[in-house]
Amino acid sequence: MPTSPAANPQTETNSEPQSARRPDPWEAAYLRFETPEEEIEKFIGRLHRLGARQWPRDAEIVELFCGRGNGLIALQRLGFRRIEGVDLSPRLIGQYQGSARCIVGDCRHLPFADRTKDVVIVQGGLHHLAVLPDHLEQTFSEMQRVLRKDGRVVFVEPWLTPFLRLVHWASENPLARRLSKKMDALATMIHHERTTYEQWLSQPQLIRKMVRTHFVPVHESFSWGKWNFAGTPQ
Ligand SMILES: C[S@@+](CC[C@H](N)C(=O)[O-])C[C@H]1O[C@@H](n2cnc3c(N)ncnc32)[C@H](O)[C@@H]1O
Repeated sequence: MPTSPAANPQTETNSEPQSARRPDPWEAAYLRFETPEEEIEKFIGRLHRLGARQWPRDAEIVELFCGRGNGLIALQRLGFRRIEGVDLSPRLIGQYQGSARCIVGDCRHLPFADRTKDVVIVQGGLHHLAVLPDHLEQTFSEMQRVLRKDGRVVFVEPWLTPFLRLVHWASENPLARRLSKKMDALATMIHHERTTYEQWLSQPQLIRKMVRTHFVPVHESFSWGKWNFAGTPQ
């Protein structure tokens, strides 16, 4: 049962509060797509692949678009102690039970001072931005602003690889949706985020060009329908 942000002492708000009671079909599908443990295992694998073993355990880390906070739990299990999360949804942040400081807010306006963070992470959030390229430019500028000079940025976002095309094809198949709850949840999420999702997937060149105006890549790969990027601020 989601708790309201006010019930969680670690949760702060820096934007207009949304109704914490109104059911949201996208959020319901996101919550049933994977169990928390599946998600945490997935995040730990990604963080290792993107260099987390080398980050100092006292690094100041922010996960943007952190949703229900399983990425924060993954970071905590890897031994990081100074962790914060930001997400627009009080309902999702309200589900987080860990010790990281969570802030309800818009990632286009980060509530952090310049050059105060060592690592900024986004796992599946940029493709939710409503207006490309403007909102992406604002978000990248904010990440660059809050990162220390030797800081690290990490993104994992959907990418239209052949594998993702196959997943899309399968998720449109009613039989596959009936047989797999996960496929049904994915199809429901795609349906409700279609505008931003398609806007994101249709502009790969713009995104790769824009990311390089803010960050120098130290790793970039495309696998299993994902863009994996790690970089340092320009
Ligand atoms: C696909 S979820 C990803 C959540 C989490 N990173 C994960 O992988 O489980 C996208 C999240 O972005 C959040 N979001 C969308 N636009 C946002 C914005 N402008 N600022 C902050 N969060 C935003 C949504 O509330 C949602 O929790």
